[in-house]
Amino acid sequence: MRRVITSDILSASMERRVQRQRAEEADHLIRFVYNQCNTSDNSAVNVRHVAQHFCGNMIRRLVFGKRHFSVAAGAAGNGSGPGPEEVAHVDALFTLVNHIYSLSVSDYIPAAWTWMIAGLDLDGQKKVAKSVMKTINRLHDPIIQERIHEWDGLRKCGDKREARDFLDVLVSLQDSQGRRFLSFDEIQAQTAEIMYATVDNPSNAVEWALAEMMNQPEVMHKAMDELNTVVGKDRLVQESDIPHLNYLKACIREAFRLHPYHAFNPAHVAMEDAVVSGYFIPKGSHVLLSRVGLGRNSDVWDAPLQFRPERHLMMNEHVVLTELDLRFISFSAGRRGCPGVSLGSSVTMMLFARLLQGFTWTKPPGAFVHSSSRNPLQVSH
Ligand code: HEM
Repeated sequence: MRRVITSDILSASMERRVQRQRAEEADHLIRFVYNQCNTSDNSAVNVRHVAQHFCGNMIRRLVFGKRHFSVAAGAAGNGSGPGPEEVAHVDALFTLVNHIYSLSVSDYIPAAWTWMIAGLDLDGQKKVAKSVMKTINRLHDPIIQERIHEWDGLRKCGDKREARDFLDVLVSLQDSQGRRFLSFDEIQAQTAEIMYATVDNPSNAVEWALAEMMNQPEVMHKAMDELNTVVGKDRLVQESDIPHLNYLKACIREAFRLHPYHAFNPAHVAMEDAVVSGYFIPKGSHVLLSRVGLGRNSDVWDAPLQFRPERHLMMNEHVVLTELDLRFISFSAGRRGCPGVSLGSSVTMMLFARLLQGFTWTKPPGAFVHSSSRNPLQVSH
């Protein structure tokens, strides 16, 4: 399945094919924030809401070819923001992500006891996960079913059409006998995985980068100078500008290093006995890589708690968001590393660069942005 995701869905050719959809979403973002500024009483914009829904809109567009579940929400216009179904969707995706990352007591009960406690759901996580999966499936299933029906019809007539979105890719795959390769359950699971894999990291990194820049106006000035030099004031920043926006990429790297979405990576299991840095790791161990431990390690990073994008410029001539040496975790590395590096980088950078270029951000009077805050960042345009 990982091969399908890497070579069919997240391939360079598919990424090019959905370029227009990504560009349109970046334009809708500007309209949405502009409308928020004009409608909200104190011009305050909830950056977390904006960033999370940009990612939600983007990934629904790329997977399903549409950003809204209901016709009514779509008819309200592209700058109008999410309708109730889109809000329920993004809430469910984030709840699911948080449960994937969190520790569950039952995972650490000795195997011999599990038959006794099976079904007890000691910490209640199973119940929450089931409930949000119900929401996600309620919203996804009709779209998947309709698409399967369409492609089965095409196959029957010996017809084909080009895959227009990620769901098309999943549904159109066929075996050597020309039958649909993936079952409904497999397509359902992959669709959900791609959705929740896309929403958390880009939105969190951009929110934190902006928050840190509120505290350090000189960093904001440098980023704006770079945008003015590379892009200018006569056009909006595009994906093709990203390779030249090294300072902005350094800001996002710094946000990944200092403020990862979650303290740990998803658990891996050791397939064999192994020795890492002198530590013996027996086969079957759950291995939890600490993102905070790596990113804030004072043996590696000078003044690790300070937000200093410059440190990434000193290390690289061409800044990228990946960190293959794992001095901090962005996309991780190796066989289980993230297959969505290219898409994830462009989604994150477009969100960040458009918010910076399109608006002047200040803290509301009296507000203090604390770098350990879990409250959504509220800033004025
Ligand atoms: C800034 C954006 C992103 C970041 C920082 C990021 C980061 C990560 C990280 C840290 C992992 C876990 C790696 C590990 O367990 O060692 C991961 C896994 C994964 N990511 Fe991403 N990701 C991003 C965007 C995306 C996007 C856009 C997609 C797909 C559309 C994606 C798909 C996946 C998948 C399928 C996995 C599971 C891989 C596996 O278990 O084999 N990610 N990502």
